Amino acid sequence: MKQEVATKKVFIRTLGCQMNFRDSEIVKGLFIKDGYKLVDSEEEADIIIFNTCSVRQHAEDRAVNNMALLMKRFDKKIFGLIGCVAQHKKDELFKRLPKLDFICGPSNIYDIPVAIKNVLSNREKINFTSNIIREDKEYSVLYREPKKQAFVNITYGCNNFCSYCIVPYVRGPLVSRPTEDILREVEDLTKQGIKFVILLGQNVNSYFYNSKKYKKVDFIKLLKFVCSIDGIEKINFTTNHPKDTKVELFKTISKLEKIERYLHLPMQSGSNRILKLMNRGYTIERYKKLVKAYRDICCGKLSTDIIVGFPTETDKDFNMTKEAILEIKFDNAYIFKYSPRPPAESSKIKDDVPKNVKEERHKILLDLQKKISLSLKCQS
Ligand code: SAH
Ligand code: SF4
Ligand code: F3S
Repeated sequence: MKQEVATKKVFIRTLGCQMNFRDSEIVKGLFIKDGYKLVDSEEEADIIIFNTCSVRQHAEDRAVNNMALLMKRFDKKIFGLIGCVAQHKKDELFKRLPKLDFICGPSNIYDIPVAIKNVLSNREKINFTSNIIREDKEYSVLYREPKKQAFVNITYGCNNFCSYCIVPYVRGPLVSRPTEDILREVEDLTKQGIKFVILLGQNVNSYFYNSKKYKKVDFIKLLKFVCSIDGIEKINFTTNHPKDTKVELFKTISKLEKIERYLHLPMQSGSNRILKLMNRGYTIERYKKLVKAYRDICCGKLSTDIIVGFPTETDKDFNMTKEAILEIKFDNAYIFKYSPRPPAESSKIKDDVPKNVKEERHKILLDLQKKISLSLKCQS
């Protein structure tokens, strides 16, 4: 089999978040194992793969449109679309992209080499999107991009169902990886010279694994284990969910020197009415209390995510978000315009904030945050 594919060259373009970056590494590792050659451009490749994001409509459209353009340029190549858009739009992708050869969802990534073998031998269309619960075979793929820091998955999927979010529908329910596997992976990374790891999960604070060796392991216990690994000098983790982040976590961070003092804690909105509609499970008062505790205990930096233009968001709601940003003074904030993502719950509420209002609110917060970030940088 190896000889058959030995001459095949693969190009992977990665869109979206760190989870997709890590998934692309795993896919590259699988290809290397099977004797494919990885290349750096679409021109050189026999097989072109896009690992895609569906968190906002715009991200999804861009992926599909860019792939359509490439299909016009290179009509003899094999095309695969993997990741969150594959899972989300599985029923329509072959219609929208008639030259597409295969699709694979995030929980089917280990099937990608099989998909390609089938395409190569029969030139038939392959749809691998049936698994929604992620198999954990990550420890069997050693490949990492040559970078200073390495991402290490600790959980897959998400159970939170924030009303705007597509992730639980495309990445399935929360599954915590076995503690033993995570620790073995981090130890292996130190042997490759990695000193900085970033633990990944949609909500890292909900990590829980009942391990034979380590008994009941929650996120704080896991952090302590990772910190105790020789060779690891720096640790960070993302993303934290304010409803599950405990003051105990900050106390732990303050005692563990290896943990970077930079916390990503998505606020999403400063209005309790909107937070409730978002199904976030906390109030802005609780959020502010958490921030205060973090800063008092850890003296660290802070970043956040904000959505503007959520359905029914009034000027009053928006001003509450603005006020919260002014008061909290994040070191960095990622600000997004709301995008309805059916079947996510909020897509049932009319997307009634006009486009120009969303754009205006977006710009106001971007400008405000820019000023805050700059003034904080000058102070430090
Ligand atoms: N699990 C992480 C990441 C989720 S996606 C978390 O909970 O933070 C990253 C960010 O994209 C979210 O925090 C949110 O701010 C934004 N986002 C998600 N869905 C969105 C949507 N439908 N429209 C606009 N922004 C969205
Ligand atoms: Fe989406 Fe909420 Fe889960 Fe984050 S915590 S992935 S925003 S459902
Ligand atoms: Fe990540 Fe986008 Fe999927 S944010 S989990 S690649 S929808």
